Amino acid sequence: MRNRRDVVKLGLGTGAALALAGPAGSAVAVSPASGTASGDLSFDPAAFTVKTATIATETGDRHVVYRFWRAIPYVRRPVDVAYQSLNVSQPIEIDGKAVETGAALILFSNSIGGYMPSSVATAQGIGGGGMMGGPPPGMAGAPPGLVEAPSGSNAMLSRGRRVSNAEQALAAGYVVVEPGARGRTLTDAEGVFYGVAPAAIVDLKAAVRYVRANRGRLPGDTERIVSSGTSAGGALSALLGASGDSGLYAADLAALGAAEASDAIFAAGAWCPIADLDHADMAYEWNWGGNPLASGARVDREASQALRTAFADYQAGLGLEGRDGFGPLTAETYGAYLLEAYLLPAAGHYLAALPEAERAAYLAAHPGIGWQDGEARFGWDAFLAHVGPRKKGLPAFDAFDLSSGENNLFGLGTTKARHFTPFSLRHATGDAAAQLDADLPATLRRMNPMPFILEAHPGRARHWWIRVGAKDSDTSLSVVGNLAAALAARGAEVDARMYWDAGHGANEGAGDFMRWIASLADPGR
Ligand code: DHB
Repeated sequence: MRNRRDVVKLGLGTGAALALAGPAGSAVAVSPASGTASGDLSFDPAAFTVKTATIATETGDRHVVYRFWRAIPYVRRPVDVAYQSLNVSQPIEIDGKAVETGAALILFSNSIGGYMPSSVATAQGIGGGGMMGGPPPGMAGAPPGLVEAPSGSNAMLSRGRRVSNAEQALAAGYVVVEPGARGRTLTDAEGVFYGVAPAAIVDLKAAVRYVRANRGRLPGDTERIVSSGTSAGGALSALLGASGDSGLYAADLAALGAAEASDAIFAAGAWCPIADLDHADMAYEWNWGGNPLASGARVDREASQALRTAFADYQAGLGLEGRDGFGPLTAETYGAYLLEAYLLPAAGHYLAALPEAERAAYLAAHPGIGWQDGEARFGWDAFLAHVGPRKKGLPAFDAFDLSSGENNLFGLGTTKARHFTPFSLRHATGDAAAQLDADLPATLRRMNPMPFILEAHPGRARHWWIRVGAKDSDTSLSVVGNLAAALAARGAEVDARMYWDAGHGANEGAGDFMRWIASLADPGR
């Protein structure tokens, strides 16, 4: 069965064009959910199947022959091996030319969406993993007219077309590791939620350790891992990048029997990261608090204002400065900062690329967006009006009725959902002195990249790629602004941008990301 060739059409096509042309199934030693892993955690270089894929890239189709290792358990004592296993893809021939991957960077591409479980165990080739169980309950859809990528499944969108970093990286000659991870909805026979926080980040770290422990056996340069993820997966990618080798996860990793190796990574890519959850409700009201819901209704003004006020305190306490000498980032200055550093350049880039007649039509249809001397012109209020309805209600994350995905993420034991902010806990209970459950501060700490970055955690990645659509109201745009500003202030190389008029899950620069990776591999390029 080994080395059979399956043909899969992949890449920048529509989702519907993703046709599986080969016979299903491939030769792997491990069946999903078997509950056991090999004791020694050593990668078997010979246990691959040869696959073939045609991958659409910016510069045309690439025909790739690759080795595919599937469903490798990455811990000695998996809680659920269907999730705690990874796939490896190594290109051996691209467009008929042999590829040398000995020193190639490794793209570590998670397909986590909605903080849901994600499994790669039954994938038939690269890019086949994904969020399990359908769209996350309690996660609102996009406002009318905005095209968005579905969560997970390596699915990102480039102007309506599907794009996967895993596939793009393979076509560019990199080794790709795709880890599965536990997620918030998993329950055992006793009703215990075994994939709630911090399970997913512990799993990703264990998978990195597996890769690094297999230096010389697993293809590629295991010392240079570049992580990629979108939305919840983007937040976890950022957290992986920020928290390398932190002792805060040592007990969790030891309990799983993770490999004894470093879990620090070289570079982190994060698309629309749903991060800094402890402060996401306040940031959301600061950003989108004045925007109506899709129904046209307004959120509770008083609660929105209270959260906005809390954001001002939080933001001031971070002590961050904007890039390019902008000065202090506060609730008062942040709108102007986002305009200057992100939104006007994004709109300018978008409008400049349009043929003149299309640009004129766009400007006529959007009178709030101006164009002068080759630059976009608009103010913060015009931008907010341009985005239109907010995607989420109030509070956006710690729902008063415990109905959000994040309430479930911070569940514990047989408790499906809990409050994780004092604001919502106190509002929901009517007890102004109510305290979060005693375990929560330590769990929140392990789920948030910001404290690691702010403390200049020594194991943090030094190279960062951060992107978000300017119309993405799944979280506040200040989440990306703060991540990028904090990283840059602590000496990281940060490439952070927004995509104009793009919604949740946008990835409009897959080619740019590949060129960025290439520049990391060879800074002289
Ligand atoms: C995702 C989206 C959300 O709005 C959220 O709160 C968490 C995760 C996602 O798409 O992964």
